[in-house]
Parts: sequence; structure tokens; C-alpha cells
Amino acid sequence: IIKIKEKIMKIIYYGNPVLREVSKEVTEITDEIRQILDEMVETMREESGVGLAANQVGLTQRFFVAEVDGNVKKIINPEIIEFGKEEIELEEGCLSIPGIYKRVKRPEKIKVRYQNEKGETVEEELNEVWARVFQHELDHLDGILFIDKISPLNKRLISKRLAQIKKEGN
Ligand code: CO
Repeated sequence: IIKIKEKIMKIIYYGNPVLREVSKEVTEITDEIRQILDEMVETMREESGVGLAANQVGLTQRFFVAEVDGNVKKIINPEIIEFGKEEIELEEGCLSIPGIYKRVKRPEKIKVRYQNEKGETVEEELNEVWARVFQHELDHLDGILFIDKISPLNKRLISKRLAQIKKEGN
């Protein structure tokens, strides 16, 4: 029997106002939220993404999923409690803005606090790709996109593509 994978969640694209909303704190981590997190992990994998925030699938609540080198994290109510001094430029992309990859400058290391799916509070230091993904996804929960952080020149270079996504994606 061949199992046909269905796209379980619909990705929200650039231009949809949901991506600009500030998401609400999760007050209780229920089975429903755990199920949504699992579905988000599957959706992220199907779309070959490294991270997916709840509002990218239309839910304005503060959680996201991410996968780096086969390690999955399900992150609820994230905060950055310390930023490292060093900033680095790395290329970013976003499932909600397909086909656009640009360099963004952000702190290389961060210290974070969040709740996992069991409701436990986790504090950890992140660097490299994890620090990058965490900052990108947390921005989503505040209605911020990585293209807000690129140079005016780069912004001009992608303006046509953005208009196209806005028109066709939603
Ligand atoms: Co994104």
C-alpha cells in the first residue's frame, strides 16, 4: 500500500494580514496544541522548511516548530533573555515568502526561555543555525518578517517578486 501524503495545513503567504499580527500567549498547553504542533512539524517537512510559526498556518498563538540536523523543537511562549554581542549575516528564507533568500544580520548567540510541549520551562543557549531559526520564528509571532530586516537595495530587488506572491499566494 502506498501512503499518499496530504498537505495537512495550508501555508499563509506574504500579503496576508495574519502574518502581521502579534500572536497571543499560550495559557494552557492542551492535547489540541500538541496535535497542532505535530501537524506543523509534518507540514514543515513536506515544505522542506527549517521552521514554521503558528501564524504561518493561520493560528495567532505564540508557538513554532523547527528542525535542525534532524532535531525537532516545539517551542511555546518563546522569549530571548540575552543577546550575544557579535552579529553575523546569514542567508534566510521563509515558507511564507517562497523563492526569496537574502542575507540578514542578527546576533550570533542568544539565550532563550520557552515552554516545551510538556509544559516544562526550558532555558538554553543557542548559536549558529538554531539561534538564527529561533530569532526568525520568534519575529513571526510579533508580526515581523525577515524581509523587514534587509537593505533598501535588496528590498527594491525583490519588490516584483513580493508583489507576485501577494497576488498569487492568497
Ligand atoms: Co519565516
